[in-house]
Amino acid sequence: MTQFFPCILTLIAAASLTVAGCSTSTPESPRRARAPFGHVDGKDVFIYTLRNASGMEARITNYGGIVVSLTVPDRSKKPGDIVLGYDSLSSYLTGKSYFGAIVGRYGNRIGKARFTLDGKEYTLNVNDGANTLHGGLKGFDKVVWDVDESTPATQPVLSLSHLSNDGEEGYPGNLKASVVYTLTDSNELRIDYAASTDKPTVLNLTHHSYFNLAGAGNGDILSHQVMLNADGFTPVDAGLITTGEIRPVAGTPMDFRTPAAVGSRIGASDEQLRLGRGYDHNWVLNRTGEGLSLAARVTESTSGRVMEVWTTQPGVQFYTGNFLDGTAVGKGGKTYAYRTGLCLETQHFPDSPNKPSFPTTVLRPGEKFSSTTIYKFSTQ
Ligand code: BGC
Repeated sequence: MTQFFPCILTLIAAASLTVAGCSTSTPESPRRARAPFGHVDGKDVFIYTLRNASGMEARITNYGGIVVSLTVPDRSKKPGDIVLGYDSLSSYLTGKSYFGAIVGRYGNRIGKARFTLDGKEYTLNVNDGANTLHGGLKGFDKVVWDVDESTPATQPVLSLSHLSNDGEEGYPGNLKASVVYTLTDSNELRIDYAASTDKPTVLNLTHHSYFNLAGAGNGDILSHQVMLNADGFTPVDAGLITTGEIRPVAGTPMDFRTPAAVGSRIGASDEQLRLGRGYDHNWVLNRTGEGLSLAARVTESTSGRVMEVWTTQPGVQFYTGNFLDGTAVGKGGKTYAYRTGLCLETQHFPDSPNKPSFPTTVLRPGEKFSSTTIYKFSTQ
């Protein structure tokens, strides 16, 4: 009982407090707490602090479903925040990097911001050269999600939903989307996505955390070792639009089937690395059946942290923060320079609505879209 109260007090004080090691709790202890974060579009925005029994904590806001911080123990059990982000809501409103956000309706790019479905052409909002990126001008990263407050606070679960109206950003159909974040006692951040529509539409939901396993703001990610469980990737053109080809990774700097440091080949003379300004491509995952399968494994030697990514999705965008330029002032006043975070965005392939040979992203009335991705942490 004496150790129970500090945990409760910490959770009540919530958002700005990060206290490690409240692991002495009962199943009835609060695992989710809420603190105000501001207002957007006349709606209240909160930060929800989820805490598991193994020393991990996630702070997630219902604005954009953004993971603001993710605190994970290193090999000496010292907690550290390993995702890039901001301290204030206003910085998220003006930021351009999609730090920690849920991305939709369509993650990554749709070429020329248009597609044809059932013989009808749809024109989308342009926000990336001639293309649309990450849902358009106001994607799922920029809306206030509804929170299911009835989920018991004894569970480290945050249940979000959003109704995207027919025609929003040019996409057809009223789309109901839900995203459930769960922090498990096995040190997993689990994300369950679901969606349904009342008109045929296209959909590609993902999560956009920038990870730095040495700690957010602690240098670049070039010495992180990465394994990607993929024999192929989807090459891009100068606008970073997939060409439709699936190319074997063998013999190229895209081959991460055995672990390699991010920086070991990123400067190689290679057309795809030049077009992507580094790694900014979709890998075609080697899948075993329908369920969760290992997509990626990342290790960082100074902290000993290990992150595995498991997903039901067919692809993963491995993006090495090539557009970060140090101008954004992040948490604790730290700035995030070039390649100081890496993203592993599980997804369908970019521009699938215009690439009939890629797995379909079409969702029709009566169908239920669902997918799961797990970011699992350990140390070595
Ligand atoms: C894309 C990048 C983009 C970044 C931030 C990534 O998912 O692949 O091209 O710059 O998101 O917008």
